Amino acid sequence: MARKTTGRPAVKLPDEFHAFGFHQDLLAWYDQQKRDLPWRINSDPYRVWVSEIMLQQTRVETVKPYYENFMQQFPNVEALADAPEDQVLKAWEGLGYYSRARNLQAAARQVKEEYGGYVPDTIEEISTLKGVGPYTAGAILSIAYGKPEPAVDGNVMRVFSRLLYMEDDIAKPSTRVIFEELVRQTIPADRAGDFNQALMELGALVCVPRNPQCLTCPVFDYCLARREGVQDRLPVKGKAKPPRPVHYLVAVVRRGDELLISRRPEQGLLAGMWEFPMVEAKPRLDPADLLEEVLQDRYGITAAYGGELTRVQHTFSHLHWELDVYLYEYEAGAVTADSARFVPQDELQAYAFPVAHSKIIQALIKTAD
Ligand code: ADE
Repeated sequence: MARKTTGRPAVKLPDEFHAFGFHQDLLAWYDQQKRDLPWRINSDPYRVWVSEIMLQQTRVETVKPYYENFMQQFPNVEALADAPEDQVLKAWEGLGYYSRARNLQAAARQVKEEYGGYVPDTIEEISTLKGVGPYTAGAILSIAYGKPEPAVDGNVMRVFSRLLYMEDDIAKPSTRVIFEELVRQTIPADRAGDFNQALMELGALVCVPRNPQCLTCPVFDYCLARREGVQDRLPVKGKAKPPRPVHYLVAVVRRGDELLISRRPEQGLLAGMWEFPMVEAKPRLDPADLLEEVLQDRYGITAAYGGELTRVQHTFSHLHWELDVYLYEYEAGAVTADSARFVPQDELQAYAFPVAHSKIIQALIKTAD
């Protein structure tokens, strides 16, 4: 990926940042206060890469157990490249944004085949890997290879918005480029990875979204927002559209101790994950009639209505699912859909389900107790 070289930078870090040693102050704090996190044990590029993908939309505390488990199952690029996709999705179950897992595995295969298993160490090459955008590229290159590349995520934008009292909308992609330029001007060549992680750590522990802990901030003296008392109003972030509500009807079909499950398509939301048959509700149609039709047309079976099981909700970044879940008793027909099968209830744990459908399984277990 070619980077624009713009002669003179559009933004400039105030001279006092250099004169008073901003990066020394920040790094001294990091050396003292950094958390012991499992991806900080060493700087193996594969380990750093997996951690950064997991951490993209997910909190550190949530990621930790997933990360440890993932590393046990897939300790290196080859192990991940060679694993069945279902196993990778299963290891990601509950973390959300499942395309991250699929892209990560596709990229591991790319690294194995094109780079002999060596995670590329240039911005041009690493940026060709699936799922590796500017943030992840910068994080891997700096943390694993010590290259002075910026790694600007939401935390870092919040920190810099406040430090420099910048009111640029951090929801706009162009704003990240401005912050990358600022990081470039201050990142020390000998401790690039630590510097990027120190900015993230400051955003996570001190310069938090609400009630930032300015009195314990190691770079308090530099912060223009704090000087003006406006740290609580920054960063400026344009409003995201609220998630769109979608109402589904779900059929849990029993055949003895087995349940009917179906694999989602290879593309799109929750690609390749397993679920109970479901269909979007239609305003003037009776749920039981609609589900009966779906079971017959899509799966080739008939089943008897057995009442309501539960109602489940789940919010994605752009969608809000409401699932009305009904029980059915299998009657007749062989399953015609390639993507569907009856599975014993006590084997469901071998399949990766979206969180909403895991909640349905929990409800089933509860009603059986
Ligand atoms: N968030 C994203 N990357 C991180 C890292 N390496 N350490 C802590 N928090 C992070």
